[in-house]
Amino acid sequence: MASTDFDKAPNRRGTGSLKWDIFDQGGTLPFWVADMDFESPPEVIEALQARVAHGVFGYAYATQGEKDAVLEYLYRVHGIQAPGAWMVWLAGMVPALSVAAAVARERGALSSLCTTPVYPPFLKSPGDAGLESLSVSLCQDMNGRWTFDRDALENTVRPDTGLFILCNPHNPVGTVFTRDELEWLGNFCERHDLLLCSDEIHCDLILDEEKTPHVSALHLSESLQERTIVLMAASKTYNIAGIGCAYALIPDGKLRTAYRKASGGWVPPVSVFGYPATEAAYRHGEPWRQDLIEYLRGNHRLLGEYLQEHHSEINLTPAQATYLAWLDMRPLDIEKPRLFFQEHGLTFSDGGDFGAPGYLRWNLGCTRAVLTEGFERFTSAIRSIS
Ligand SMILES: Cc1ncc(COP(=O)(O)O)c(C=O)c1O
Repeated sequence: MASTDFDKAPNRRGTGSLKWDIFDQGGTLPFWVADMDFESPPEVIEALQARVAHGVFGYAYATQGEKDAVLEYLYRVHGIQAPGAWMVWLAGMVPALSVAAAVARERGALSSLCTTPVYPPFLKSPGDAGLESLSVSLCQDMNGRWTFDRDALENTVRPDTGLFILCNPHNPVGTVFTRDELEWLGNFCERHDLLLCSDEIHCDLILDEEKTPHVSALHLSESLQERTIVLMAASKTYNIAGIGCAYALIPDGKLRTAYRKASGGWVPPVSVFGYPATEAAYRHGEPWRQDLIEYLRGNHRLLGEYLQEHHSEINLTPAQATYLAWLDMRPLDIEKPRLFFQEHGLTFSDGGDFGAPGYLRWNLGCTRAVLTEGFERFTSAIRSIS
């Protein structure tokens, strides 16, 4: 089947698209919420069409073929050998974070820890389970890459902290954490008796997989597995987030039982569309994924070149993964950057929601035509203040 032409994307306006419609004020260009404008791989669309054609949409569970597709993919692409028993299916990753917090609360914790900037539910979800959310800022190395501030983490963790929530690869700063960084973090979790909830939803969106391979929390020490919950989904990579299908991998039986128990009543079951879409993406989507990454690399490069040429005062984090770009807007001294650009026909995500006011997150999961139009509007917005 022909591959997707990423220069062509369906018109999403007026389709109930959160990204395109909710902040639209007559032609606003959306670069905020993390989904992409591209059609999913043709095989995913076919699998969904087949499911619709069946015409019966009662409750579903994962068939053996659907489970095998995930387990084979994890092994083939990431070298993760996970038995099927480790899997817990979930209708989404955000409730999965709240469930991890509930498990920590059940074990006696009163607080959780994460690093900022970070995907906003990392800061908010622990509160659903009654945990105080502690956070420590990541720090930037000489090349602008963000990493753990080990001393600050040691100084912030408390005896009542029971959970560390990791984002790897990282939304929004695009870091792919190295084995050394993750081994340190694993050791930190063991020393402070923390559960490690590792959100790896962006692990198939690494821009150079040879240079910066994905190291899963499941690749770390055997002893760490007793406290590890890994969250994954095909949703970001294959653009099926609206279907709602994710899964947790929990090696330890007791922890898995506690997680299942805590999720009962909170997390709805996966829809009839979630399983076949995930299976098709994982079984057939690899050539599409490679083309997508090539296209996204191009979009990251274009944004870098554009900022360098026209707005070199704005500091762009060099991304190793994701279709998200992280911009330090503070040199422009705009009081409310998100609002300011919204008034100029562009929607971005506000750094303040990620624990980093003064920054913007720019979603590059769009065609070059939309991106280029975005550049023009961005420049004219900035010209309006200088
Ligand atoms: C790190 C991370 N986790 C979870 C999610 C959301 O996952 P879901 O749509 O399955 O709730 C996102 C969405 O942007 C994300 O970036």
